[in-house]
Amino acid sequence: MTILVTGSAGFIGANFVIDWLSEMDETVISLDKLTYAGNLNNLAEVEEDERHVFVHGDIGDSQQIDRLLHTYKPRAVVNFAAESHVDRSIHEPEAFLQTNIIGTFRLLESSRRYCSDLNEKRKRDFRFLHVSTDEVYGSLDEDAPASTESKCYQPNNPYSASKASSEHLVRAYYHTYGLPVLTTNCSNNYGPYQFPEKLIPLVIHNALAHKPLPTYGDGLQIRDWLYVGDHCRAIRMVLDEGSCGEVYNIGGLNEKANIEVVRILCDILNELRPVNGNTSITSYHDLITFVKDRPGHDRRYAIDASKIETELGWRPAETFATGIQKTVEWYLDNQEWVDLVLSGDYHQWIERQYA
Ligand code: NAD
Ligand code: TYD
Repeated sequence: MTILVTGSAGFIGANFVIDWLSEMDETVISLDKLTYAGNLNNLAEVEEDERHVFVHGDIGDSQQIDRLLHTYKPRAVVNFAAESHVDRSIHEPEAFLQTNIIGTFRLLESSRRYCSDLNEKRKRDFRFLHVSTDEVYGSLDEDAPASTESKCYQPNNPYSASKASSEHLVRAYYHTYGLPVLTTNCSNNYGPYQFPEKLIPLVIHNALAHKPLPTYGDGLQIRDWLYVGDHCRAIRMVLDEGSCGEVYNIGGLNEKANIEVVRILCDILNELRPVNGNTSITSYHDLITFVKDRPGHDRRYAIDASKIETELGWRPAETFATGIQKTVEWYLDNQEWVDLVLSGDYHQWIERQYA
């Protein structure tokens, strides 16, 4: 059996492929456009694995996707491919609409065509799993209950709007064409191989370089953080046992204000890599800098993941304390990886965003 994983050279996609090949005896066809966020180095540890086939391509290229589906006959498509950074979506939304909406639409169309040629059993067993985000539910007040799967969608930035649109298409393909789809809405992930434009790897990278740790606004925006390995396991379980047409929230049970996350990172770094005596700072905390807020910045995300716990028995294995410790250690041990991804594009982005 085979599965097709898109966006496999990105942060979560790569973790998923590595996790899949260590847990399952099933081939993965992994497809990625290799945008600035896609990095083949993320898949280095499965490069030699015969069960892994990497294909450079775009989910919006229908001919290529049709060819792949008919050649490899996967039993499932797991769609991670996306433009994923909110701040970039504010500067340049078009790529988000192109990949997240049109790309998902084309992938759904190819999957529908492919499915219609399968025999009854294979058609019944086929799954299209769409990986989405808690951001589609919009911002919550401090004391509001966490978002359940039935909360109305209120996306507030081009990224979350494009992800919400893609989810509506996925839902429509289930109801209109009977495509066996599953959707997951997950909270903020952290862990190995995350591109250092996102809060946690950015703070680790800047701290080690003794650069300011940019905290937007008052730093009191709340996110729910999930270790990426727990997300990968949840997706495997939804793929295996989820009911077609259903949506599953995945959350970390770890709501934290951004400033708290930044302070925890400083504490761990002070412990593992104490500041050298020859600098103007005595602790990484001295680098914390409050900067201009993100436009339309959602105040709080919180996810109610009781459905996946009750129906499929999934719960996160990592606490924030254990997951963040492992994560900081990974970045300290993999400075070479960080140096490699910090390409020209990264420098231009940082200059523009934090000017
Ligand atoms: P990422 O930006 O690290 O990776 C995205 C990958 O998709 C990259 O490798 C990129 O090259 C690839 N890609 C982009 N456009 C493509 C296209 N047209 N065709 C094929 N590949 C393309 O993102 P991530 O953090 O790994 O997120 C993966 C998925 O999970 C996204 O759909 C995102 O919305 C969702 N998600 C992310 C988080 C999070 O905290 N990172 C949380 C919930 C859901
Ligand atoms: P981010 O990692 O970009 O994920 P998302 O926007 O998908 O939640 O940001 C996480 C939180 O951290 C978000 O509230 C914005 C904030 N943030 C900062 O305060 N400073 C930064 O430099 C970045 C990148 C994010």
